[in-house]
Amino acid sequence: MPNCLIDPTDTALPVEAIHEEAYDSWLAAQSAGLQSWLSSTGFKGKGGQTAVLPGAEGAAAGAVYIIGGNEERGGLWAWSGLWDGLTAGEYHIVSELSAEDVYDAAMGFALAAYRFDRYHKDDADNQDAAFLVWPEGCDQNAVRGAYGATVLVRDLINTPASDLGPAELAAAAKELADASGAAYHEVIGVDLIREDFPAVYAVGRGAEDSRAPRLVEFTWGREDAPSVTLVGKGVTFDTGGLDIKSSTGMKLMKKDMGGAAHALGLASMVMASKLDVRLRVIIAAVENSVSGGAMRPQDVIGTRKGLSVEIGNTDAEGRVILADALALASEDHPDLILDFATLTGAARVALGAEIPALFCNDDALAEDIFQASQRTADPLWRLPLHGPYNKQTKSKIADLRNDTDSSYGGAIMAALFLENFVGEGISWAHVDLMGWNLAAQPGKPEGGEAMSMRAMFDALANRFGS
Ligand code: BES
Ligand code: MN
Ligand code: ZN
Repeated sequence: MPNCLIDPTDTALPVEAIHEEAYDSWLAAQSAGLQSWLSSTGFKGKGGQTAVLPGAEGAAAGAVYIIGGNEERGGLWAWSGLWDGLTAGEYHIVSELSAEDVYDAAMGFALAAYRFDRYHKDDADNQDAAFLVWPEGCDQNAVRGAYGATVLVRDLINTPASDLGPAELAAAAKELADASGAAYHEVIGVDLIREDFPAVYAVGRGAEDSRAPRLVEFTWGREDAPSVTLVGKGVTFDTGGLDIKSSTGMKLMKKDMGGAAHALGLASMVMASKLDVRLRVIIAAVENSVSGGAMRPQDVIGTRKGLSVEIGNTDAEGRVILADALALASEDHPDLILDFATLTGAARVALGAEIPALFCNDDALAEDIFQASQRTADPLWRLPLHGPYNKQTKSKIADLRNDTDSSYGGAIMAALFLENFVGEGISWAHVDLMGWNLAAQPGKPEGGEAMSMRAMFDALANRFGS
C-alpha cells in the first residue's frame, strides 16, 4: 500500500513536472515537433493538466504534468491531476523536485488513484491503472501512514450502514488496536448502564439488538509520555430518531460515523509514526434509529458526568453520545483531547462542506492547529466557544438541553454543549466536519473523505515529535 506507487523499473516512462509559471519557457526550449503536438492537442499548460507525449509506433513516450490546479489549493492537491491524466502504464518523474514536492507528488498521486470498489463485481469502471515510481528521496513511511489513514477513513465512511453498524465499527477499531499492540476494551448494550454510560445507551437503545450501542476504547504508547485522547462520534446511521429526518436530510447519513473514522485514522498515523505520546482513543458507536424503544423528545436522560439532559430533539444525538465519551476522556486528565464529529448541518452552512469548523478552549493549541492546516493543505477554520450563548442550552427541567429554541449558531451551540463535559483545565479541540466530498475533484473522489486529519497529525507531530 499504496499499490500505485512502485519501485523503480527500467521501462517506466518519463514525466516532466513543471510549475505553471515555468511552462512558457519550458515550451520554447522544446522541438518544433513537440510544440506542434502540444498545440494541436489543445494543451494549455494550465495547473493540473497532463499531456501524454507520442512516441514511435504510436506508443506513449512519456508525459508532461503541470503542477497546480485544483482551485489553487496547492500542496498535495497540486499533484492530484496527474493520475487522472495518465494513460495506463508506469511512469517516473524526471524533473528535479523540492522535498515538499516529492512528498506531495506521491500523496497527491496515490489519493487520486483511490476507488471504493467493495461492491463492484469487477473494476470495469476504473481506468486502467497508472503507476508512479516512488519519487527519489521520498519519505515512504510518511506517505504510507497518511495514505493508509485516509483510505481507512474513506473506506469506513463509504461502507453503507448495512455492512457497518456499531459492531463492525468496533471491529475496525479492534483490528487497528490489535495491529499496533494497543490495549482494547469495549462496553456493549445494557452493560453501558452498568458501567455508567447512560447517554450512549439512551441514543443507541432504539436500534436492533444486533446493532446495540457500544463504547469502544484503546490505549497505546509509553505510559508517562504526554497523553493525547482522541474521541469520535460513531453514529453508524442517523435517521434522526423519532424526530425523523427528511429523505434528503437522511440521504448521506451512513457517513455519521465519520468522526470515529477520523479518530481511528489519526490514531493509525500516530501509531505508525511511533509518536512518543500516550494515546487513548474513545469511540461512541450507535445507530440512531426509529423504534418503540427509541428515546423521545422531552425525555430526560442522565450522563456519566452527572448532568441531566433534556432531549429537545432526538436528531441532536451526536452531542449526547459525545457527552459520555468526553466525560470518560477527561477522567485521567490527559494533556490534550481532540474530538471529531459530523455534528451539525449548521457548521456546513457556516463554512461549506470542505472546511471543518474548529472549536478550541486553548488559543495556543488553536493557532498550532491552524498553522498545521496551512502547511498540509488540509483546511479548517475556528469558530468561537461564545460563553454568553450558554444560556440557550439550559433546560427548564434539566441541567442542559440538547437543542435550542433558535436555529442560529447551531455549530456553536453543539460545541458549547460538549464543553460542559470536558474536564476543568484540559486543552480540548473539537472538529465539526463533513467527512464527505459532494462532488469529485482531482484527488478527491465523491464520497467519504478525511478532513483535518493530516493537519491534526502535523500539529501533534510538531508538539510531541522528537
Ligand atoms: N449528523 C447530523 C449533522 C449533519 C447533518 C452533519 C448533515 C453533516 C451533514 C446531526 O446528528 C444532526 O442531525 N444535527 C442536527 C441538530 C439539530 C437537530 C439541533 C442538525 O444539524 O440539523
Ligand atoms: Mn442527528
Ligand atoms: Zn448525527
